[in-house]
Amino acid sequence: MSARISASVYTSHVPAIGVAIDLGKTDEPYWRPLFDGYDPAKEWFTAHTPDVIILVYNDHATTFSLDIIPTFAIGTAAEYAVADEGWGPRPVPDVVGHPELASHIAYSVIQQDFDLTIVNRLAVDHGLTVPLSLMCGQPSAWPCQVIPVPVNVVHYPIPSGQRCLDLGQAIRRAVESYDDDLDVQIWGTGGMSHQLQGPRAGLINSPFDQAFLDELIAAPTELAKKPHIDYIREAGSEGIELVMWLIARGAMSDLAGGPLPTVRHRFYHVPASNTAVGNLILEN
Ligand code: DHB
Ligand code: FE
Repeated sequence: MSARISASVYTSHVPAIGVAIDLGKTDEPYWRPLFDGYDPAKEWFTAHTPDVIILVYNDHATTFSLDIIPTFAIGTAAEYAVADEGWGPRPVPDVVGHPELASHIAYSVIQQDFDLTIVNRLAVDHGLTVPLSLMCGQPSAWPCQVIPVPVNVVHYPIPSGQRCLDLGQAIRRAVESYDDDLDVQIWGTGGMSHQLQGPRAGLINSPFDQAFLDELIAAPTELAKKPHIDYIREAGSEGIELVMWLIARGAMSDLAGGPLPTVRHRFYHVPASNTAVGNLILEN
């Protein structure tokens, strides 16, 4: 039997959420509604823990400085240390990779004309660790292997929505050609509307975010045509992180001619730090 992608998960990765978890503040009135909203997702994840998560996120100038800026990268290491983002690494387990599947995906996706950068050493920042904490809680070891897929959405030029959707489809084909019986999920992190700097800092646009979720679920090929400028104008400068969700969406079976995925969970909350928080689970 070959490996298969069973589900996709989409979530914000706000660093302050990680701090709230690490410092035991989840019951504070500011945070309780957010963590209550993630409870069904955590329950779903406990019942549907895969063998491997392909975790699409953006590095925030943590591992990739201005020296080297890969557009799309893939982690092929056996282990990933938790990054020190300036206040010490988060007290969470190191991330265990899946070098064999990651190398296979790199091989297959590059053969499909996507130029992935192969990364053998990578410290993972909040873009990757906060989603794991939100979905898994505080285990002593993460419950599955993780393949990091960092995407540049920090420094222009960045990839288009269409390119992201296409990459997701290529990743799906890569997984399905891996000759081992593995249950694989693909996660897309970042977003939703937020702007961290300048006169519009604190911008949140709930109608945009909800429409984005609607279209991500039901009309991803239309959504992939949305130009960057629309994200920036409507969802703020960091709202552009949402294009990465199209990579996870592209890996779902409807884009390979199957039926639309089933919505298992949808949650939206404003605000967390400077950000609108969204969480969506789609099952093939
Ligand atoms: C915030 C959100 C992010 O996605 C991020 O990478 C950094 C900060 C915030 O809302 O504070
Ligand atoms: Fe971010």
